[in-house]
Amino acid sequence: MGLNRYAGMPVIALLSVLACSSGNGAAAHPTPPPGAGAAGIGDADFPLDGNGGYDVSHYNLAIGYTPATRHLDGVATIDARAAQWLSRFNLDLSGLKVRAVSVDGAAATFARRGDELTVSPAKPLAQGAAFKVKVSYSGQPQPLKDATNLGTYGFIPTADGAFVACEPNGAKTWFPANDHPADKATFDFQITVPKGLTALANGELTGKPTTSDGRTTFRWREGHPMTTYLATATLGDFELRQGRTPGGIPNVTAVDPAYRGSLDSLYKDSSRITDHWVKIFGPYPFSSTGGVIDNFAAGYALENQTKPLYGGFHPDDGIIAHELAHQWFGDSVSIKRWKDLWLNEGFATYAEWLWWDHTGKATTEATFRRNLARPAGDRIWSYPPGEARPRNLFNESVYTRGGMTLHALRKEIGDRTFFRLLKTWTEQHRYGNATTPEFIALAQQLSGKDLRSLFDVWLFQPRKPAWPT
Ligand code: TRP
Ligand code: ZN
Repeated sequence: MGLNRYAGMPVIALLSVLACSSGNGAAAHPTPPPGAGAAGIGDADFPLDGNGGYDVSHYNLAIGYTPATRHLDGVATIDARAAQWLSRFNLDLSGLKVRAVSVDGAAATFARRGDELTVSPAKPLAQGAAFKVKVSYSGQPQPLKDATNLGTYGFIPTADGAFVACEPNGAKTWFPANDHPADKATFDFQITVPKGLTALANGELTGKPTTSDGRTTFRWREGHPMTTYLATATLGDFELRQGRTPGGIPNVTAVDPAYRGSLDSLYKDSSRITDHWVKIFGPYPFSSTGGVIDNFAAGYALENQTKPLYGGFHPDDGIIAHELAHQWFGDSVSIKRWKDLWLNEGFATYAEWLWWDHTGKATTEATFRRNLARPAGDRIWSYPPGEARPRNLFNESVYTRGGMTLHALRKEIGDRTFFRLLKTWTEQHRYGNATTPEFIALAQQLSGKDLRSLFDVWLFQPRKPAWPT
């Protein structure tokens, strides 16, 4: 979904946009001339992420990777639609060398500046026109470091391959993209690696891997809309277990040989937890479930669509419950702006608490009370979770106070309405994007209550809520 921020703006407004610099230390981006797509999709907290002026519907990524040299060869073919008249438009791409770009089969000129790849098609694109961009590129991918407080992310070379975890804006480290969750698209992957290695992307294999000249190609397809940060091409030595959950959902689980002992437990936990969440959150949104453990010591996990990725540890059932809850909250129902991240992390955290309740480890009420007992000086109280902190995006308040917000809401509207709300939310916004005001509106509609002050004290005030006492 492209936001056309500039068309129709009066000249005075354009000048003031030119004059203001972005608030988080990024360089101010010049206002594009008429006919040029904006360099950012319009997220105030991440002004250069994504792009304006077009909407991607599909990425076809043909990637070759050689772990020994860390060399990546890529051809990305992107189907998009112009949201405005476009004499040029941007893609996000970090590092790597672009060899050629074409638009609808005709060579296009291009320029690189920072992480922006600007493409000028031979002929301007009409508003509403569907078009196909093909970008040929190669080089050694460089992951991003610490931009948002979680350490390294993006395409991360490992001893035997690569660990690919891209939230929030690391997809651009391995393919040209409209790299912002507001523009979701379907994906085809064709990943070629030295024979003996396995490449794991989202969705399902579309056929048997094929080998020639000592290299094997894996073809995966994610046929449901996906945000760019959930795309993966994690590759290396892997052992696989495939089957179906008792509820009938295909399960693809893979572990690095160093985690061989975790293969069966990850497979089984992912199966039973996926089936359990279907009962609580509604139909599973995708065509398969599963998970991947790589021996890269990220120390954290990412909810990559259909295949959460665990970085260098044996995941317990709580974190598996968290990552699989994200398949509904974050992956199927995605955010439109980073300041609504609690819609992902608060919900996945609360799901973890629901899982502990389900298994008898602790009731949700006890977990809520334990966190409510934190002293007034605790940073979760000074940090309202309804705002984005671009350089501390994944701060604990977004997780814990976000989860507490849902428990406070549940107590206020009752279990029946609360669980109906969760199912209605995942149904109404399935495969789409949603915002906090939309969630508040739905909660008010289903409960018939004025919940503005509840959400205000839990999400937006920089102090410990006095609610509920
Ligand atoms: N969304 C992840 C979680 O489940 C955290 C996360 C954000 C992450 N960015 C990442 C994990 C990058 C790995 C890599 O809470
Ligand atoms: Zn999470």
